[in-house]
Amino acid sequence: MTQDELKQKVAQAAIEYVVPGTIIGVGTGSTANFFIDELAKIKGSIKGTVASSEATAERLKGHGIPVFDLNSIDEMSVYIDGADEADPGLNLVKGGGGALTREKIVLAVADKFVCIADDSKKVDVLGKFPLPVEVIPMARSYVAREIVKRFGGEPVLREDFTTDNGNVILDIHGLEITDPVAMETELNSIVGVVTNGLFAARNADIFLCGTADGVETITAK
Ligand code: 5RP
Repeated sequence: MTQDELKQKVAQAAIEYVVPGTIIGVGTGSTANFFIDELAKIKGSIKGTVASSEATAERLKGHGIPVFDLNSIDEMSVYIDGADEADPGLNLVKGGGGALTREKIVLAVADKFVCIADDSKKVDVLGKFPLPVEVIPMARSYVAREIVKRFGGEPVLREDFTTDNGNVILDIHGLEITDPVAMETELNSIVGVVTNGLFAARNADIFLCGTADGVETITAK
């Protein structure tokens, strides 16, 4: 099976977690796109969605799926999104697509987080995938120096990329993240950091992992 076929399988499996009559949070990226296409088939059964990026909002609207402003809703049954890495505790690295801040905000409102990804995203220790950090542009050099001082690694400015919030991304290479909650908290304490791509303080509740043998449903160890 190709990687795209695995992504499609997990997207289909995620439909089971869509609660009829409610608002669903929708992530960003190629796996989330497969999910949006599946959601379109049952769009009449949900109240609507909240999008974690402009790109996702556009795709949802293209299918005629209602997209609400997060400020206009106060309840969300589930948030469904992909990931760049997932460890056995279902702590994630996200933000490969640069939507980490809005993803984290939308997730904060959701009752449940269902992560969907193919099995190439499963790791024992997070950090092989460079950790994205969204930074206010004027703070980028300061933040990069602080990151090296506190954690090591090599922060690299993502070229020709501006987030939906008008900020830049530093991708930190060469980390071995053994305490994701502590690192998430400390990174956020650096002045100028908007968010980082560790989803550990609020991790996934369920990981639908696409494998050659089918979709594995994983809960945190
Ligand atoms: C976007 C993300 C994505 O969920 C992550 O990059 C995975 O993307 P894909 O499904 O294309 O592999 O965090 O900011």
